[in-house]
Amino acid sequence: MGTVKKIAVLPGDGIGPEIMEEALKVLRKVEDLFGHSFQFTFGMAGGGAVDRVGNPLPEETLSLCKQSDAVLLAAVGGPKWDNNPPELRPEQALLGLRKSLNLYANLRPAVLFEGLENASTLKPEVVKGVDLLVVRELTGGIYFGEKKRERLEDGQQATDTLVYHEREVERIVRRAFEIARGRRKKLTSVDKANILESSRLWRSVVDRVARDYPDVQVEHVLVDNCAMQLIRRPADFDVIVTENMFGDILSDETAMLTGSIGLLPSASLGEGMTGLYEPVHGSAPDIAGQGVANPAAMILSAAMMLRHSFGYEEAATAVEQAVRKVLADGHRTADLAGPGTLAVGTEEFGDLVVEAMNAYE
Ligand code: NAI
Ligand code: MG
Repeated sequence: MGTVKKIAVLPGDGIGPEIMEEALKVLRKVEDLFGHSFQFTFGMAGGGAVDRVGNPLPEETLSLCKQSDAVLLAAVGGPKWDNNPPELRPEQALLGLRKSLNLYANLRPAVLFEGLENASTLKPEVVKGVDLLVVRELTGGIYFGEKKRERLEDGQQATDTLVYHEREVERIVRRAFEIARGRRKKLTSVDKANILESSRLWRSVVDRVARDYPDVQVEHVLVDNCAMQLIRRPADFDVIVTENMFGDILSDETAMLTGSIGLLPSASLGEGMTGLYEPVHGSAPDIAGQGVANPAAMILSAAMMLRHSFGYEEAATAVEQAVRKVLADGHRTADLAGPGTLAVGTEEFGDLVVEAMNAYE
């Protein structure tokens, strides 16, 4: 029996509470099966928190998160708060958490599950075998560099600055090598080193760090070429590491290789071990409260937490295998059910995952 892991649970808005319930159900099953113990503490964040206390990320939620070993967040936002001033917008909760936990590494896996070969808009033979992970730098680069707007004689001029310190590059690159080592040991570093000085620095850091990981095969790919290769031969990729803006764009591209947004988890990791785990999708207000949302992305985010924050690799794999089995057996939530297919609800899908985990007893 290991230590008790403290998990800050932020169900948020819309479908958030519904899908969170299913992830917690699965984590309780993990406790039973593997002897781990979790302490769940609920916090408010997002629109609900704006309504109740006038702050999307209340101080008590922030300190709860800082004191926890990991943060599980479902989704925030909704039309009710769309016209709020910036500081009262639900998304501020996310930005505030990323910033105060210094979450510099964003991990977005894209896996094609058995039985969903036709869910992508790409041909089944192209997406067959897709199992990749984008590791995106999240706190540096052009999104955070100095911005400027000037009025010149002949019109306005705007400047965005792309800055990276080698320290920032090294920590994300090391993280990516470590992760690649636990997978198929292939790392693709994406940059624009033929043009950008920051990319030339990036590339030199990758080459230097690579010496510490002789077992990992490294390739450098220019970002424009990578965008093409991702839809031409996506199954060839294992881990892709890249800077903030390239990662923003490429991770959305990879998300579309696998079908529904309801299947895609993510992790954001920092210097400490307090990672933030959340689905890629939002609060889906159009289907909230109906019990029909797909909880898979939330459950798979919890699996990422088991792996990346706690090192519970076996438990993480068990959860992922269970989700795979439920899908392979043909169970579909409404987002994936074709016409004439009987869809299962959110709760039923969660129950099926828990049931499938019994195979590990
Ligand atoms: P969305 O991801 O919430 O929904 C897009 C479409 O996908 C909708 O038709 C929705 O029903 C469907 N969908 C999403 N997740 C699903 C699931 N688990 N199962 C089945 N169907 C699912 O994006 P949208 O509509 O642009 O944003 C809605 C709200 O969520 C907005 O307030 C937005 O700001 C917020 N948002 C929050 C995010 C977060 O908390 N990380 C990320 C993206 C959006
Ligand atoms: Mg994006």
